[in-house]
Formats: sequence, C-alpha cells, structure tokens
Amino acid sequence: MPDAEGKFRARLEGMEHPLQAWRDTLEELGVMGLIREAAAEPLPVAPLAPRIPAPAPLPRPVPPRSAPAAYTPPADPAACPNPAVVATATSLAELHQTIAGCLACPLGPGRMKFVFGEGDPHARLMFVGEGPGRDEDLQGRPFVGKAGELLDKMIGALGMKREETYIANVVKCRPPDNRLPTADEAHACLGYLRRQIELVQPAVIVTLGATPLRELLGVSEGITRVRGQWRHVKVGDRDIPVMPTFHPAYVLRQYTQDVRRAVWEDLRAAKAWMDRPPES
Ligand code: URA
Repeated sequence: MPDAEGKFRARLEGMEHPLQAWRDTLEELGVMGLIREAAAEPLPVAPLAPRIPAPAPLPRPVPPRSAPAAYTPPADPAACPNPAVVATATSLAELHQTIAGCLACPLGPGRMKFVFGEGDPHARLMFVGEGPGRDEDLQGRPFVGKAGELLDKMIGALGMKREETYIANVVKCRPPDNRLPTADEAHACLGYLRRQIELVQPAVIVTLGATPLRELLGVSEGITRVRGQWRHVKVGDRDIPVMPTFHPAYVLRQYTQDVRRAVWEDLRAAKAWMDRPPES
C-alpha cells in the first residue's frame, strides 16, 4: 500500500489542483481534523508582554554658540537689508520683497528657498515656529512637512482653516542638519519677524517650541515649564498676548496623551482669548 507521501505525489501527477491534493493528503493523515477541532476551541490568550518603553528621542544637533567667524555678509544692500527699511515696510508683500535676498547670516547661502511665512495678512491667530526644515526649504512655505500636517490638524480641530491664520518662523532659512538656529542667526532674522507681527497685528500669538520662546520673548526657561502660561510681546505700540506651547515635531516624537492634551489645552486657551467679546 502506498504511503501518504506516495499518494500525495500520485495525486499531483494526476493533474488535480496541488492545493486540493495537499488538503486531501492532510485529511487522510488525520491532520486536518485535528486542525479543525483545535481551531474550534478558544485560542489561548497570551498574557500581554510588558511594554518596552520607546527609546528617548535623539537630541538635536547643538548649534555653535555663535555664527562661524568665517562668515562675512556681503556688502550689497539687497543681501543685507537695512533694518530701518525693514521696520518701515508698509505691507507683507513689500517686506517679503525687501528681505527675500537676505544673506545676512550663514543660513542664507545654504538655503534652497527663503521661507517668508504665509496666511491671512489680517489673521487674529498667528503661529511662530522655529525655522524651515527640509520640506519647507524645498517648497518655500512654512510648516508643510510632517509637523505641518499635525499643525493643520490642530488648527482644524479648533474649527479654523490654516489660511485663516498666519504662520511664520523665527528664522527664514533652513539651519543645516535640522539643527537649532544659533542665537546670532535668530538675531539676524528677528527684525523680519517683528515687522511681520506688526503688520499682521494678531490678537494672539502661539509660539511653537523653545526657540521662539527664547528669541522672541527672551524667556530662557524650558518650554515644559512655560507652556500653557500666558506671556506678552511688545511689538510697535502693542502688547500682544502669547501662548507658548510644544512644537508639533515634539508632539510627533512624544505622542503621549499628556503631551497632546497639553497642546490642545494651550490652543483652546489661545482661541478662547481670540474669540472673547470686545471689552466695553
Ligand atoms: N518646524 C518649524 O519650526 N517651522 C517650519 O516651518 C517647519 C518645521
């Protein structure tokens, strides 16, 4: 009598469908029955393995404390816009035109595109981030990468559209290797941001992460301590309320309920301030 393997081969050679042959053979061996019976019983539930904590995010490259001494900005006024001209630009378009060729700090020569900022020129809610990343450098628009997608979702959750807000950064050119801007780079660019704020005249600003907190507000305490606490920035003759919160890139790296809830509370507080009835 042929053994099981012999039968299997004979069936294959007999032009039956190979899977059918395999199944028939298993049944003959009594294995299929065992599988069915076993499957009818509830599957044992393995105890949950203890969760391995996610590795701590890699620290971001620390920038040099000041711009490399080797960098000498060109003398050309188009490459180093006069601060007096910047401070008196009468519209965002004029400001953009004045500063778009800026090479005042070492970030300028390395950029693909200058990332001025965008949104409603009269937005009541303004976001200030740190500086362009790779996607922003390629497109010339702020917050268009993964962090930007999250920012858009958060704005949507507030019942607003991105285009109803104004979005800008402390520095307008991408720092290499995704590092933080140096203090010198931030200072070279800060006049541009301050004029942007003066022209937009937002009712409230939300700063994203530690860089705008430090450079725009002069607050050196960590973002974890300061987030959620109202601050102010004096721009021109106005004192604008500022709500510091975590940077969306940090939220993506630390995607915990606590971090997300904190950002949500900060944004809701900013929106509530923006929507408050005018004082009588
Ligand atoms: N991170 C920022 O701070 N700004 C951007 O525009 C994009 C990412």
